[in-house]
Amino acid sequence: MIVHLNGRLIPRDQARISVFDRGFLFGDGVYEGLRSFDGHLIAMPGHVRRMNEGLRAAGIEFDAASLHAASYALLEANNLRDAFVYWQVTRGEPEPGRNVRSRLPDGPMSPTVFGYAAPAPGLSTASVPGSARLVTMPDPRWSRGRLKSISLMGNVLGVLHAQARGTPDVLFTQRGLVAEASSTNVVLALPAPGGTRLVTPSLDSVSILAGVTRDVLMEIRPDIESRPVREAELALASEIVLLGTLSMVLPVVELDGRPVGEGAPGPCARGLLGDYADWIRRDISRSRPAATGAAR
Ligand SMILES: Cc1ncc(COP(=O)(O)O)c(C=O)c1O
Repeated sequence: MIVHLNGRLIPRDQARISVFDRGFLFGDGVYEGLRSFDGHLIAMPGHVRRMNEGLRAAGIEFDAASLHAASYALLEANNLRDAFVYWQVTRGEPEPGRNVRSRLPDGPMSPTVFGYAAPAPGLSTASVPGSARLVTMPDPRWSRGRLKSISLMGNVLGVLHAQARGTPDVLFTQRGLVAEASSTNVVLALPAPGGTRLVTPSLDSVSILAGVTRDVLMEIRPDIESRPVREAELALASEIVLLGTLSMVLPVVELDGRPVGEGAPGPCARGLLGDYADWIRRDISRSRPAATGAAR
């Protein structure tokens, strides 16, 4: 695997960072996860905007716009067309003689920029929904969930809690409200007069990530209502669906050991997945083809 480290493409076993990097010592950095289909990166403006917001909030000087070209270079170097592309930017390491344990960054630092690309399923798999099983858990994480921090200890504790209960993933709740899963946002299909209503937790009701996939789905499906979602509404849902860059649209078939709805992917999930796959195809046709062999 060829990785990107501070502007260079190098084999993964040659990539080295300092033990005093503040990403390693403090989790002081932000990350972003991208998808490419058939050699085209999708939803790039949303990812770049979100990463730049996080960098600005953290006071780390780096422009995520440069990751557009750098991602295509990674795809080409690894000869990948359907891939997950990961980027992490940390504050970097203090200069020699500076305090390496000071919470307040001591002196100027150059950010550490690391990226890799790994194979991921192509768009043809999007016609068949997967399925997820979750357990609920009071959210142990911090209150700045919109910041895509590399400090993911709370998310790790969540999936360990789920795994101890024989379940792959966790659904976090905050003060009686539904939040998100460990790496996805959530949509509920609730019974409503004359049909079903789709709801997703609003960003001001709980501390969650403003998912790019959630944003795209809300744009193409204005029938998704963003509002506080009570934990008690989970039991009323005929379907629960997860949204994320890697998972795309993933039906939840079991929650806390009980089937959700029919216990199988339902029509709302299929509709959302179909609409999302159509949007990806449109985004691909809008995105510039890579200058190189990765996207022709
Ligand atoms: C906690 C959390 N929520 C939601 C998401 C989904 O965000 P996106 O759609 O931008 O991938 C992620 C993705 O990593 C996440 O980590």
